Amino acid sequence: MKQWQITNEWNFDNLKLGKAEVPDPGPGELLLRMKAVSLNYRDYLMVNRGYGRMSGELPLVPLSDGVGEVVALGDGVENIAIGSRRLPCFNQGWFTGDLEDRMWAQLLGGPLDGTAREYMCVKAAASVSIPDHLNDEEAGTLCCAAVTAWNSLVNLPATALNGGTVVTQGTGGVSLFALQFAKTRGARVIATSSSAEKLARLSALGADETINYREVPDWGKTVLALTDGRGADLVVEVGGAETFNQSLRATRANGVIALVGNVTGSLVEVNLPHIFMFRKRLIGISTGSAADFQAMMAHIEETGFRPILDKRVYQFNDLSEALQSLPQGKHFGKIVVQVV
Ligand SMILES: NC(=O)c1ccc[n+]([C@@H]2O[C@H](COP(=O)([O-])OP(=O)(O)OC[C@H]3O[C@@H](n4cnc5c(N)ncnc54)[C@H](OP(=O)(O)O)[C@@H]3O)[C@@H](O)[C@H]2O)c1
Repeated sequence: MKQWQITNEWNFDNLKLGKAEVPDPGPGELLLRMKAVSLNYRDYLMVNRGYGRMSGELPLVPLSDGVGEVVALGDGVENIAIGSRRLPCFNQGWFTGDLEDRMWAQLLGGPLDGTAREYMCVKAAASVSIPDHLNDEEAGTLCCAAVTAWNSLVNLPATALNGGTVVTQGTGGVSLFALQFAKTRGARVIATSSSAEKLARLSALGADETINYREVPDWGKTVLALTDGRGADLVVEVGGAETFNQSLRATRANGVIALVGNVTGSLVEVNLPHIFMFRKRLIGISTGSAADFQAMMAHIEETGFRPILDKRVYQFNDLSEALQSLPQGKHFGKIVVQVV
């Protein structure tokens, strides 16, 4: 079979398409024939060992997201049909309940071998089924960013959703999923982005109000103005250094900041009384468990939800080019790579 590997050094020169034996599923595992995979910014960083020792060892098959057809079952696997489609969970060791430190060693695409190959084995218990209304390209985008966005929204008080106001930042994978899930869950959404063109697309996706964060760097104030001075119930914070204090300002008393990412950097100076005086709550979000993934898929099936894909779909041979396009930020929606 064909597979992509970061071979003997952590850089793009050593991200190579090669050959390997098709693996045999062990007890409790499925063999998937991969049909489509998709990219997260994490996958780009991983090629340069961007997660330090948590990146794992070389050689490494990159990517965490993808969809496969079940072609063989390991011993003890029941109730999963040959020929059905499954999504591997980003975290192969977190089934339900709270995240534990040891589970960080179980992430696909580093430190575990990922989805960028024609065949892969996954634990049956760490995979989920797929509603029929999603095609392969759509389904293959749901493993990491979507589960993260889902958990940013659902582990929160109902008031933050039904009728509440949610702020999303930019047009990356997590934020588009957060906008879509916030709308299917009945919230009003205020979305930020860097260009008029992207803001128009956010409006078309259902954003109730939009703010250009380049033209309005203190957009937290704008959120206050748009909410009669009260602030948003929930901010899905992906920006990090450049956005955190605006998010704090934009959040209402007793409101929540779901802290997901650090696109603009990790170090930030915070005026702590802004948090404790107004009882604001900061919740770290770390993707989600298999149970969270299943709950999200049930919601997707019930609502007919479809992810937003970038207009360009890459061929498997062009996966390295697709990954290197990520920092240019020209895409809108998930970048998909077809495997077959
Ligand atoms: N905690 C977790 O489990 C988890 C899971 C997945 C991802 N993440 C993290 O979440 C973050 C987003 O991931 P992603 O995959 O969605 O990234 P992505 O697809 O690469 O999107 C990045 C987006 O950030 C926006 N952005 C950049 N600077 C901004 C600013 N100053 N204000 C607001 N938006 C800004 C840009 O939006 P515009 O182009 O519209 O301006 C850009 O499209 C990353 O830090 C990633 O590591 C965390």
